[in-house]
Amino acid sequence: MIGESLPLLLLLPSIIAALGTQVICYDHKRMLTLIERLNGTVDEQLSLAASTWGKLRADYPRDVAKIDELDETMQRVMCNKDKNITLSQQLQGHLMREHIREHLETINTTALFRQALEAPEHELGKWQLAIGRHSQRFHCLFKPEQLQQIIGSVLKRLYSLQESNKLAALLYQLYLTDSRANESFRLMVYSELLLYERYKSGGQKSTHFDNYMAKMWQSLQLEEPYTSLDQGLKQRLVDAIIDLLGYL
Ligand SMILES: *[C@@H]1O[C@H](CO)[C@@H](O)[C@H](O)[C@H]1NC(C)=O
Ligand SMILES: *[C@@H]1O[C@H](CO)[C@@H](O)[C@H](O)[C@H]1NC(C)=O
Ligand SMILES: *[C@@H]1O[C@H](CO)[C@@H](O)[C@H](O)[C@H]1NC(C)=O
Ligand SMILES: *[C@@H]1O[C@H](CO)[C@@H](O)[C@H](O)[C@H]1NC(C)=O
Repeated sequence: MIGESLPLLLLLPSIIAALGTQVICYDHKRMLTLIERLNGTVDEQLSLAASTWGKLRADYPRDVAKIDELDETMQRVMCNKDKNITLSQQLQGHLMREHIREHLETINTTALFRQALEAPEHELGKWQLAIGRHSQRFHCLFKPEQLQQIIGSVLKRLYSLQESNKLAALLYQLYLTDSRANESFRLMVYSELLLYERYKSGGQKSTHFDNYMAKMWQSLQLEEPYTSLDQGLKQRLVDAIIDLLGYL
């Protein structure tokens, strides 16, 4: 029903009128058309778009095509020269699109890591390269805080004790030894720590994983970009090393 999926619209009589009273199931195409051609104010368009995004996240979170279409529609709305779009509306639209892109990137990155985790041993090299390429793209498109957010969501979806060694090895591939060495190293260390902390919170020990991570922590300290890490990350790394001192 409209009232559940589009709570913001209750305040906007012109949109309710445009939708009619007979809308029972969600009609994506019609919604996008309304957002784009709505004969109303930009605020109404933004409000309708926000409700649509809420609806998609709740009911179709993995439907990349639908979410992509919303993003494209938003782009056209925000670039419409015939409307006077205020700075605050620009910002609102921009934030929403950023949110949408983060969501799509989370789906995309999760799918990539899942394929890599499920691949047979002899294909591992190919997937390591793919993750390296993905990392290049990552740093072009997103800010560091967004990447941390994305990696956090990906790990939440993919973590399992059995696959933790393999996941650690794959995450290491986020580290690029080119002009992006410092930022990619930082993201990789952040990801490995997140994985390790997730493992610890599970309460189940794996000597194999402990051993692997102990060696990894030690090797990270020898990498050149280590000095560029901020103090907080270094401290977490030191704590993890102390944890596993017995394996060194
Ligand atoms: C849009 O609104 C204006 C003014 O309210 C009206 O004159 C015009 O006919 C409307 N156009 C459409 C396509 O509904
Ligand atoms: C946009 O703003 C300008 C200047 O304030 C005004 O002249 C113009 O008519 C407005 N256009 C629309 C479509 O509201
Ligand atoms: C992720 O996005 C890239 C670039 O758009 C695309 O080439 C690739 O097929 C996507 N991967 C998955 C697993 O969806
Ligand atoms: C990486 O960080 C180090 C230490 O902070 C700095 O000296 C170096 O210039 C940085 N490299 C790049 C490519 O930014």
